[in-house]
Amino acid sequence: MKIAVVGTGYVGLVTGVCLSEIGHHVTCVDIDEQKVEKMRQGISPIFEPGLEELMKNNIDRGLLTFTTNHKEAFSDAHAAYIAVGTPQREDGQADLRFIEQVAVDIAANLTNDIVVVTKSTVPVGTNERVKRILLKNLAGDYKVDVVSNPEFLREGSAVNDTFKGDRIVIGAENPEAADLIEAVNKPFGIPVFKTDIRSAEMIKYASNAFLATKISFINEIANLCEKLEANVEDVAAGMGMDDRIGNKFLNAGIGYGGSCFPKDTSALVQIASYVQHDFNLLKSVIEVNKVQQHMLIQKAKTRFGSLEGRRVALLGLAFKPNTDDMREAASIVLAQELVKEGAEVVAYDPISIENAKKLLPAQTVYVNSPEEALLAADFAFIVTEWKEVKALTPEDFKERMKLPIIFDGRNCYNLNEMEKHNIEYYSVGRKP
Ligand code: UGA
Repeated sequence: MKIAVVGTGYVGLVTGVCLSEIGHHVTCVDIDEQKVEKMRQGISPIFEPGLEELMKNNIDRGLLTFTTNHKEAFSDAHAAYIAVGTPQREDGQADLRFIEQVAVDIAANLTNDIVVVTKSTVPVGTNERVKRILLKNLAGDYKVDVVSNPEFLREGSAVNDTFKGDRIVIGAENPEAADLIEAVNKPFGIPVFKTDIRSAEMIKYASNAFLATKISFINEIANLCEKLEANVEDVAAGMGMDDRIGNKFLNAGIGYGGSCFPKDTSALVQIASYVQHDFNLLKSVIEVNKVQQHMLIQKAKTRFGSLEGRRVALLGLAFKPNTDDMREAASIVLAQELVKEGAEVVAYDPISIENAKKLLPAQTVYVNSPEEALLAADFAFIVTEWKEVKALTPEDFKERMKLPIIFDGRNCYNLNEMEKHNIEYYSVGRKP
């Protein structure tokens, strides 16, 4: 089938590339000419394991093309996927301007009947709005259907998730449109769940809100464990053995970040408020997460009193490992607070430094290895559990730091090992 994908961010590019890999003719559309030119050469604008290889392969097979030209993308297409961003507005609402503009562009450039598929995370009711815009701007007497097909991929494992996802959700009014999108996805061999459009839109928000809730819940349990001298890792393992709870997403830490959970949880609270529903539970999840991001600072202040003049190794900057994405990363809050307190921040990340420079305070010093960051440091903050950071040994800390004092926000090291080497080690939900 011929498919157009609009927007080449994480969701759009991965979707387009993977659809070409299973044999469809895919044209990815973006307004950024320079970005399009790079992608034509098989260069991915994002760091995502396995993606460039598939891009190059399918460009060579003639199944994947990139363009800025709407006519070229939408004419003869059986389906057009909308995968543009829905940034968060100041009031927490999702900004739908890009989605609406794409709907106008698709409608104005059609040459045949088409199914328009929304991949972007959009508030309940948005697909109906998209349909109205499409109908209002139609270039001719064509039939358009709208399908909600939310995306569940994770950054850093997006390609793998697309091929091995747990479910494909298809929300449609017209069963024929749902069947067409089911057929498009058939080669993935992933279970399909069909429902109405509004429920499909809701599944996405509810899933992310639930996962965020799981994280805030275990973080609260971790904070309690510290006070009651229990071990949150054992608690999570014991809880997770119950199938109804499950053992995933129960890693306590410095809170969730990234481009999805913070944005989607705030958007759902907003969506609820429009129908006079006070989503108190989710508000608490968000609040707990904010407090959790400051946890390392609190612990350092309790230990040192003033942080003025202290040299701090900030290890890991991205919001999680295997991505260079710095959006809503806890490292931003931590670096800002440290600088405000008068500390000197020496930061390391294997791939996010360029992105970090745009977001961390200008005073931050960047180094190329975790060992270098530890040199003469008064204490270390472990922020992202990169393998390079986890590989540090007690000797690495002892040989380089003034005194080996670690505040670990990701529980990277073995408690007994740290104790054996006389390292002052504070982690999350485990006894100091
Ligand atoms: C998340 C969801 O996992 C995807 O299913 C969804 O498609 C995506 O958002 C989206 O809406 O597009 P992502 O933001 O890439 O994916 O990252 P996750 O792996 O879910 O991690 C999010 C944050 O939670 C990270 O900061 C991570 O460190 C934190 N986390 C995760 C924990 O603190 N503890 C855990 O047990 C798991």
